[in-house]
This record gives sequence, structure tokens and C-alpha cells, in this order.
Amino acid sequence: MKAFHPSLVSLGLALVALMACESNGSAPTLDSAEVARGRAIYAQSCQQCHGEAATGTGRVAEAPPHSNAGHTWHHADGQIVDIVLGRFQYPGRVMPTFAGQLTEAQVMDVLAYLKSNWGEEQRAFQSQVSQQWEAGK
Ligand code: HEC
Repeated sequence: MKAFHPSLVSLGLALVALMACESNGSAPTLDSAEVARGRAIYAQSCQQCHGEAATGTGRVAEAPPHSNAGHTWHHADGQIVDIVLGRFQYPGRVMPTFAGQLTEAQVMDVLAYLKSNWGEEQRAFQSQVSQQWEAGK
């Protein structure tokens, strides 16, 4: 029997996760104060590379957009905090580390702002991934 292409398998898993979370209802509501704080931090610390949060417009070529079209929403809250604060390193990383510049709470504010630009589906999916990440720790 011919094996499935690995990318098809992971697409299948993502769809299963997406369906699972759809049956779980909608994404959690966002705190507007967090979103506002996050917007200011994003403009100061992230936008010059990642472009506008909602669209990715103006980003540098190597930096992925944080919009629906990007893949940030595939990552759990905890994993994104680890990436931004440099606790999660990976080969080829050029993303600067914000350890000592931003607190964990400030990164969560930025994340709230990013979430405010995602669609309902992306937010519901990412919320599920975050719960799984917390449960697996
Ligand atoms: C100097 C440019 C630069 C700045 C400033 C910057 N980034 Fe990045 N970032 C990158 C690049 C380039 C990548 C892709 C390559 C990599 O992962 O190293 C990346 C990757 C990421 C990723 C992983 C990929 C993804 O979409 O999930 C996240 C999350 C991220 N950045 C968030 C942020 C946040 C939040 C800020 C602001 C606090 C920020 N970045 C500031 C350049 C930057």
C-alpha cells in the first residue's frame, strides 16, 4: 500500500482538530484593555518586521504575517510566549528575543491584539491548541 504523503497526514490532523474545536463552540472573548496595550507594544516592537497585524502589509520578506494567512494561530499561547521570549530556539532562527524587554504578560497583551485580528475560526482553533498545550505540560 502506498503511504500517505506526510503533509496530507498533518492536514488531516489539523482538520480533525478544527472539527473537534468547532463542536466545542466559539473562541473565548478578548479583553479590550489587553488588546489596546498589545496594539501599542506591537506597533513599537513587532510591526517593523511583521507588518500590519491584520494583513502583514509592510513586513520584511523573511518575517511571516501574523494575519489569518500566516501560521501564528497554529501555535499555542504558551509556545508563542516561549518563541518571543527566546525560551524556544530552533534552527535558522532570526526572530529577535525579547527576554528582559517584554514580560510574559506583555507578550500575552500582544497576543490578544493578534487574536483580535483573526477570524472566529482561527481563534477557536488556536484556543483549542492552547488548551492542549497546557494539558500536555
Ligand atoms: C527584526 C525583525 C523582527 C522583529 C522586530 C520581530 N520579529 Fe518575529 N520573526 C521575525 C522573523 C524573520 C521570523 C521568521 C523566522 C524565525 O522564526 O526566526 C519571526 C518569527 C516570529 C514568530 C514565529 C512564526 C509565527 O508566525 O508563529 C512569532 C510568533 C513572532 N515572530 C512574533 C513576534 C512578535 C510578537 C514580535 C514583537 C514583540 C516580533 N515577532 C518581532 C522577525 C522579527
